[in-house]
Amino acid sequence: MLTNKQLLKMHSLTARQKAMFFSKNLAFLLSNSRFLYSPAVPAWARNEYETEVADAYRYWGKVERSMTFPKSFNLMMDFGLYLYYVIRSTKPAVVVETGAGNGYSSRIILAALGRNRKGTLYTVDVERGVAKLVGDRAGGRWRLIIGKPRATLTRLLDRIGRVDVFLHDSDHSYGNMMFEFRAAWKKMKNGSYLMSDDINVNRAFMDFADVVGVRPRVIASYRRSFGILGYGSHRSL
Ligand SMILES: C[S@@+](CC[C@H](N)C(=O)[O-])C[C@H]1O[C@@H](n2cnc3c(N)ncnc32)[C@H](O)[C@@H]1O
Repeated sequence: MLTNKQLLKMHSLTARQKAMFFSKNLAFLLSNSRFLYSPAVPAWARNEYETEVADAYRYWGKVERSMTFPKSFNLMMDFGLYLYYVIRSTKPAVVVETGAGNGYSSRIILAALGRNRKGTLYTVDVERGVAKLVGDRAGGRWRLIIGKPRATLTRLLDRIGRVDVFLHDSDHSYGNMMFEFRAAWKKMKNGSYLMSDDINVNRAFMDFADVVGVRPRVIASYRRSFGILGYGSHRSL
């Protein structure tokens, strides 16, 4: 629904205007999901994450001027915490994310994979010059793939053949969200996780949860919501 240009325009809205826009679908999310204000994340994961966030924002301070997007484009703290925890706990071999932005989510995922000593992150985007926040954390576990929307993701998924954790944070139009969810889901197996930022901008995530028959978990703030779907009957985190 929202293009980069529109999102940048939203950045200049007042807090009240933003709150009204983002809460549009909140009532729907509330009544259709296992709603988590603050999912239980053990202290060890929280401590590690806080260390990584401090490290990321120290680096941010050094390179802020070269960032492509405003800070508000970065994945929200609580969403990043859960993402970090899932990756540390499930030790995925293959993580795929769409939408690099400044690279906050990429950096967090890479930190978790680094501590796991296992796994590769594939980040897909349509624009060059993204993910600058990854900076000193870029290494052998990261592949940044820039290319045409949809076709690049399709080619990548066909090549790697599996996805253990998928994060959508790219073009939040209904059609694109559905496309990405379907494409990633086909490559998942029991124990995999599909996650999406900004699920309150339209009903794509909730519709997809319905289609695959999985009860979603939602972490919501007053203006943004993050959705999680677990594939199959694995233990619940
Ligand atoms: C909100 S930012 C992502 C933020 C990032 N996940 C973070 O935590 O820092 C959105 C990104 O999606 C990219 N994008 C837009 N449409 C896309 C598409 N169809 N496929 C892949 N990336 C896309 C934009 O170029 C931009 O880098």
